Amino acid sequence: MRLKHLTTDVVIIGSGIAGMMAALEMSRTRKVTMLTKTSLGAGNSVKAQGGIAAALHRNKEDESLHVNDTLTAGNGCNDINTVESLIQEAPRVMECLLKSGVPFDTDTNGHFQLAREGAHSLRRIFHAGGDATGYWIMSSLKKALPAHIEVLENVMAHDLLMDNGICDGVYGTNKQGETIVVHAAHTVLATGGGGQLYSTTSNAEEATGDGYAMAYRAGAELVDMEFLQFHPTMLSIGGKGAGLLSEAIRGEGGTLIDENERPIMREHHPLGDLAPRDVVAKAVYETEKSGKQVYLSIQQIADFEKKFPSIAASVREHGVSIEAGVLPIRPGAHFMMGGVAADASGQTTVTGLYAIGEVACTGMHGSNRLASNSLLEGAASALLLARELSSIPERQAGDRRLPLFQGTSSSLMTLPDKEEVQEKMDQWVGIVRGETQLRRMLHWLASYRDNIFSPIPLEASKEEVERINMLVTAWMMTQAALLRTETRGAHIREDYPYSRNEWKQKRIEFQIRREAP
Ligand code: SIN
Repeated sequence: MRLKHLTTDVVIIGSGIAGMMAALEMSRTRKVTMLTKTSLGAGNSVKAQGGIAAALHRNKEDESLHVNDTLTAGNGCNDINTVESLIQEAPRVMECLLKSGVPFDTDTNGHFQLAREGAHSLRRIFHAGGDATGYWIMSSLKKALPAHIEVLENVMAHDLLMDNGICDGVYGTNKQGETIVVHAAHTVLATGGGGQLYSTTSNAEEATGDGYAMAYRAGAELVDMEFLQFHPTMLSIGGKGAGLLSEAIRGEGGTLIDENERPIMREHHPLGDLAPRDVVAKAVYETEKSGKQVYLSIQQIADFEKKFPSIAASVREHGVSIEAGVLPIRPGAHFMMGGVAADASGQTTVTGLYAIGEVACTGMHGSNRLASNSLLEGAASALLLARELSSIPERQAGDRRLPLFQGTSSSLMTLPDKEEVQEKMDQWVGIVRGETQLRRMLHWLASYRDNIFSPIPLEASKEEVERINMLVTAWMMTQAALLRTETRGAHIREDYPYSRNEWKQKRIEFQIRREAP
């Protein structure tokens, strides 16, 4: 096995908006290495359609409204200090993105065009290219990235390097089969979420829960893993998800109807089609379950193709007519509110380890994320972390040649394939879950306990590491969903259909070796 050792100040794992902004800012004062499992910038951020929520236009008044909207959507589980810190960081985030060249959409007078999405009390969402905000943000950040940042593409991280409870970097394998060991004074997880645990998802192929599993194996605390947000409107082709239809479409007047053209949201929430996402996803799910197809009606929207050019192109590519004015939809796994426990600037429970963006659970989103708060959270945490690191004395990276786990590969032979994990999660840990299904999932997972609770053999391929990470993530999500005996936000229990006060401030925590399936 060929080994290559590198030493740096900061290693960032992942290259979505959080990783890129962190790299950009930290590289001013520190040596930065970025490690990414496919190509630079690939993942969920580049797919973002709606935009980035930033309360700028009415300053303080809107800032407190944005805080309120975020807390209301989060159903009492948010951390109010984190919410305030991240929302207050929005002006600096926008300044940084504009400096990096992101062409946010403006009207003919040069004023920013602001969109509205579900549960926002007013228009505060900045977008670019109509519905291609993620593309423009990521391509601008890529261009702005200084050449002295060391970028290692196509490296699948296996595990964090741990020395007596302190994180000293990360190791992984590249396409050539070399093991790359990066020793770092600071290690930043920016690995995104885990939507690929489900067959219908808006998430990119990369989103296999890697950061959750690595953090778990390293002994970091994870929280709120039962809170996974389903997006109500994925284009549905033959009963399968075929790309996201942004909530911004409903912000422009789109409505959800059933196959008899009956509006479905009126009876569910006073905000109707702009209700919080968990409410809309559940209503769509229930309508679908009653045997009716749900459609997103776009008949009311003038210039649909001009406002949503990328979505219109993708809808046509799937053979669906825009002119008919109704798009078949179904919900899909979209965003993990739970994750590695971290404060607003990404500090985790492990010294030397930080988590920013979707992999982190900072308390920003509570049990249901407000639309377009995810790009804001990733970028704002990155800026706060960069500021924090620039103000502390430099620390040398550890250089001990720690033994890497050689292990045996016998347990790899028994791994389920990705589709099987997805099928089980769809069936037993879906939008609406109950004790019987959750116990079935845990029973199924128990046969993979060696994979879940052992270090990953060094010779595991990228796909094998991903499948192990999916199992670890699935186990935490299922266990947490079983323990939370109430319905709150995106966690909907058919056997406990109401929220219970005693659960409001409770958090379900995971730390290695405390639990076993
Ligand atoms: C959307 O455009 O509907 C997704 C945006 C988000 O999840 O914040």
